Amino acid sequence: MSGQEDRSCTMRDRNILFGITGSIAAFKAAGWVHALTKEEARVTVVMTRAATRFVSSLTFGALSGNRVYTDMFGEGDNETMAHITLPRMSDLVLIAPATAQTIARLAQGMADDLLCTAVLAGTAPMIICPAMNSNMLAHPATRRNLNTLKELGYVVIEPDTGLLACGDEGAGRLPEWDSVREVLLGLFIDDDLAGRKVLITAGPTREPVDPARYLSNRSSGKMGYALARTAKRRGADVVLISGPVHLEPPPGVELVQVLTARDMKKAVDKYAAESSVIVKAAAVADFRPTHAGVRKIKKAQAELKLELTPNPDILTELGRDRRADQILVGFAAESNDHEAEGRRKLKDKRVDLMVVNDIMGEKTGFDADTNQVTLISNDGVEQLALMSKEQTANCIWDRVAAML
Ligand code: PMT
Repeated sequence: MSGQEDRSCTMRDRNILFGITGSIAAFKAAGWVHALTKEEARVTVVMTRAATRFVSSLTFGALSGNRVYTDMFGEGDNETMAHITLPRMSDLVLIAPATAQTIARLAQGMADDLLCTAVLAGTAPMIICPAMNSNMLAHPATRRNLNTLKELGYVVIEPDTGLLACGDEGAGRLPEWDSVREVLLGLFIDDDLAGRKVLITAGPTREPVDPARYLSNRSSGKMGYALARTAKRRGADVVLISGPVHLEPPPGVELVQVLTARDMKKAVDKYAAESSVIVKAAAVADFRPTHAGVRKIKKAQAELKLELTPNPDILTELGRDRRADQILVGFAAESNDHEAEGRRKLKDKRVDLMVVNDIMGEKTGFDADTNQVTLISNDGVEQLALMSKEQTANCIWDRVAAML
């Protein structure tokens, strides 16, 4: 993948056939349609008759900017074949919320309304998001129908647990859009990391000076979180060890939060042995104050000298203790001599791939949403273009997948 036009990071230009059925959660689906159209996806909504009892089709027409279909035999000439034309033009079919009734009818292959007929006529990936009362969801008939759909190759996204519209607490809530979006994006990219345990470090570390102060750096975690999000989409089991950042953890990723370099080392040591890929995107402090006082330092003295002690070099130790079948990826934050420094670190730290990024530019390195990296391996040097950190992450995974 070139990374330039890496469409696996966005829903833009995707044709989505969005099925809505008769659940109170239909109001949440309005937010999903809005999010998709904001991302320039092309959404066509098909509502069951029951769905229109909860939310008007006008709402979805306004949000999607397209005609909303509610009836197999609607008026107008382009309606008669809608059950054929709609799925034919779709990149995927998303049914959310999916009621027990619609799930049962889909499991039986029924075609007595436009939505079920369009699903039968379609060949694009089908994603089902059940939403209902907990007892209905747990009922053997519903479980059997959901298992039938999975056997038919439908992707079933199990509901969240929490307070339901009926007042019960339990499983049955429509999931948050961000987690569903990740599943959809995962459909548009190869599962080339499926079954792989991937360990990623991200963000800064904080080295205490005294109870009120610490030494840190400008890492926002964006690069590491982009790596975790994209690895998950590509099928990996992801553990993300993160210093303190202001980012939501990517859905479906195991998050381990740390503060100091020594905390990060402890966490890395816990997961390293089981990981087939380790990517060290964190900006780990090389030093920590030797005497992190238990009392706040007073500004009495004119000058304050801080004695610093080296922190463990986690990447170097990983390179020393690595498994032969493990892929080790390091990052280099450089202000000059990028390629030379990258080559040196590749060799000294015994890694398979060094990702060198410039930290002097506004659009690269720390806290930027984009990056422009040089990939250095024993096979040579590759300069990537300036692109989003998610696209950069996908290019890195392309190289890692080729090494696996
Ligand atoms: O988080 P962002 O705001 O998105 O910024 C991204 C980034 C600039 C932090 C990231 O792209 C990056 O370059 N991360 C590595 C920063 C760093 O510490 O680079 P370094 O050249 O000092 O370290 C080289 C490698 O050794 C890195 O993989 C680092 O994780 C690792 N290291 C460094 C020191 C240490 N004590 N232990 C380590 O494991």
